Amino acid sequence: MTPVPVAVLVSGGGTNLQALLDALRDSAARVARVVASGADAGALERARRAGVPTAVLAHPDDPDEVVTASGGARLVVLAGYLKRIPPAAVARLRWRVINIHPALLPAFGGPGMYGSRVHQAVLASGVALTGATVHYVDEEYDRGPIIAQWPVPVRPGDTPETLAARVLAVEHRLLPQVVMELARLGVPEKPVRLAASGSAFVVADQPSVRVGESRG
Ligand code: GRF
Repeated sequence: MTPVPVAVLVSGGGTNLQALLDALRDSAARVARVVASGADAGALERARRAGVPTAVLAHPDDPDEVVTASGGARLVVLAGYLKRIPPAAVARLRWRVINIHPALLPAFGGPGMYGSRVHQAVLASGVALTGATVHYVDEEYDRGPIIAQWPVPVRPGDTPETLAARVLAVEHRLLPQVVMELARLGVPEKPVRLAASGSAFVVADQPSVRVGESRG
């Protein structure tokens, strides 16, 4: 089976991109191009080292430029991409754009909720469980249908840095698994929800984890 071409959109250092580059070798998907919101994104160097074509958006709010930059990829993955995808681009790529967020959405998401701000808000709220979420991208930040979640307990004494590090480690496992499963399914033209099954994520027959519930 020809691997499904994936375009990865980045703004930062690219550790999630690296996790995809490492995990997708010989899988149902391959990173076909990396698109950055700015030339200073450290992730671009990771792409170049891996021999993956790169592009830098001049106008991230231009729907035509965003769609063209994704180069006809079957799946578009936002991995630490901080710009909003223009609604016209979302409409043209419906159910083919996914994002990873370092919290259990719908909590701790939305405009301005990125990086350490998320973990600061989690700690300030006193919740016992946070985690990572992969969801479809729609016209609003962090609001699209959830595909899969992976919970991470908040520990006594956690700082935004220690919590971010544990959640990021989970992100690096969750995102490649979701991409491989969507590719294996042929990137369905309708929303799917995945749930953990052993060490993989498969199509769920019941909703994935809800905020506040433990897996126990
Ligand atoms: C990750 O925590 C991701 O969830 C968030 O931005 C961070 C990016 O990290 N959207 P990296 O650039 O992949 O290292």
